[in-house]
Amino acid sequence: MRKEIIAGTLALTLMAAVGGAATALPDWTSDAGGPAPFAQAMREPDDVTMDQRMLGRSFFSIPWIAAPAATTARDGLGPFFNANTCANCHQENGSAPTIDTNGQPLRALLFKLARPSAHDARMVTDTPESPDHARMLDPHYGGQIASNATGLAAPEARPRLETRQIAFRYGDGAEVMLERFTPKLGDLAYGPLAEDTMIFTRQPPALAGLGLIAVVPDAEILAWEDPEDRDGNGISGRANRMTDGAIGRFGWKAAEPTLSSQIANAAAVDMGLTNSRYPVELCQPDQTACIEATRGRPSPQGLLDLPDTRLAAIETYLEGFKAPQPKKLSASAARGANLFATTGCTACHRPVLNTADGREIRPLSDYLLHDMGADLADGVREHMAGPSEFRTAPLWGLGARLRAGHRFLHDARARTPEAAILWHGGEAAKARETFISLDPATRAAILSYLESL
Ligand code: HEC
Ligand code: HEC
Repeated sequence: MRKEIIAGTLALTLMAAVGGAATALPDWTSDAGGPAPFAQAMREPDDVTMDQRMLGRSFFSIPWIAAPAATTARDGLGPFFNANTCANCHQENGSAPTIDTNGQPLRALLFKLARPSAHDARMVTDTPESPDHARMLDPHYGGQIASNATGLAAPEARPRLETRQIAFRYGDGAEVMLERFTPKLGDLAYGPLAEDTMIFTRQPPALAGLGLIAVVPDAEILAWEDPEDRDGNGISGRANRMTDGAIGRFGWKAAEPTLSSQIANAAAVDMGLTNSRYPVELCQPDQTACIEATRGRPSPQGLLDLPDTRLAAIETYLEGFKAPQPKKLSASAARGANLFATTGCTACHRPVLNTADGREIRPLSDYLLHDMGADLADGVREHMAGPSEFRTAPLWGLGARLRAGHRFLHDARARTPEAAILWHGGEAAKARETFISLDPATRAAILSYLESL
């Protein structure tokens, strides 16, 4: 353990010396406000925790490189990857731009694959708890397209988006332009997709406050479940459950039960870093160059690119961030906060959660799955989450995301919170209808509340 820390710290210093730390590092000093709203560190960790956070920060922020390299601390990237550091997709611990000015995808928008018609089939599986194995994968490309690769293999494809614009008009004449994307893949390097493979996309969530979410007891989440809609409000949240019964809480479909399982998945699937949950590179059987590509050097932990001690350091790092801090409410936003409840939003965007250590937190989510209707459905199943079911998106930090120019909803289709509301359907259709029926000033009050979060 001690050895790991020393090695990591050295690597960090080295990279800084050669200018490798160009990626903005989180703010560890300021307590509130400031330019990095998702990177406000919690106070007073003990020295050991502080060391772990520093180590985790280096593995999160500094670019990984292909093996073998002069440093064994951060080699093992690829052969396939989408980005060479977590921080590319989680800038300053937040999200990242996903779509360029021409409506084309940036690397932070992941293109994933599933074969819904083969759901019941048994699949190849090393890690049965992973959402990428909870659905049937494409035989040539697996569960996610790698738009990048080390020199040893060819990238799998070039992701593209087709955009359809849809004008929405309120009763009072106000208009909002909505966008809907159809994902496409060009330059497929390993043959065609299977006939029934569907492509779907996911954007990165912001990562503040995850240590708090991790210590919300299962019972607290389950207390809000209402699968049979006994209270008759049209809303029937249920938890996502893994095959071993664990409750899912991370990811757009709550398909990962713990921070460490989510990090292991990101490391393997997004960056090509093997770890104890994903001990083999994610090459498909006929991707020979990927299979034959050089492996990381043997280390005391074995051949894994990201041994457990380093994965645990990333976890400690992510656990160390405060919840995003809301702004002081203006009069209009204060009115909006009440309307947010009376419009029916809080039926899913649950106002308060209690952590095991007695803290009240306000992510504005129940961490349950809801049927969001056909327009939002991505057709994909992840563990118990059906094709149209999503985890209530936490809304804390929404204003900061808006100010950073990032987009909303799982596939980044919404440019604004208002557009996100207009896409709500299914169990949320009633809340959407109520929102639409409000007069412009009242709608504006709700939006100004959301912007203050
Ligand atoms: C190429 C972009 C990309 C990279 C690189 C990446 N992520 Fe992510 N991350 C995403 C996307 C997209 C999601 C949402 C996935 C989903 O729900 O399907 C996500 C989700 C997460 C979540 C869940 C957050 C929540 O609110 O539930 C965590 C935690 C996370 N990533 C951590 C990491 C870590 C740690 C790394 C580096 C090892 C990393 N990510 C690398 C794109 C990326
Ligand atoms: C039935 C449950 C439910 C209700 C009611 C509901 N939401 Fe949501 N909300 C969700 C889910 C689930 C998502 C994520 C959907 C997705 O990404 O496809 C979401 C996403 C959002 C987002 C985008 C967040 C992000 O991270 O991209 C906003 C903004 C939002 N809701 C606001 C509202 C407002 C305002 C209301 C009331 C008018 C409301 N919601 C009512 C379940 C609900």
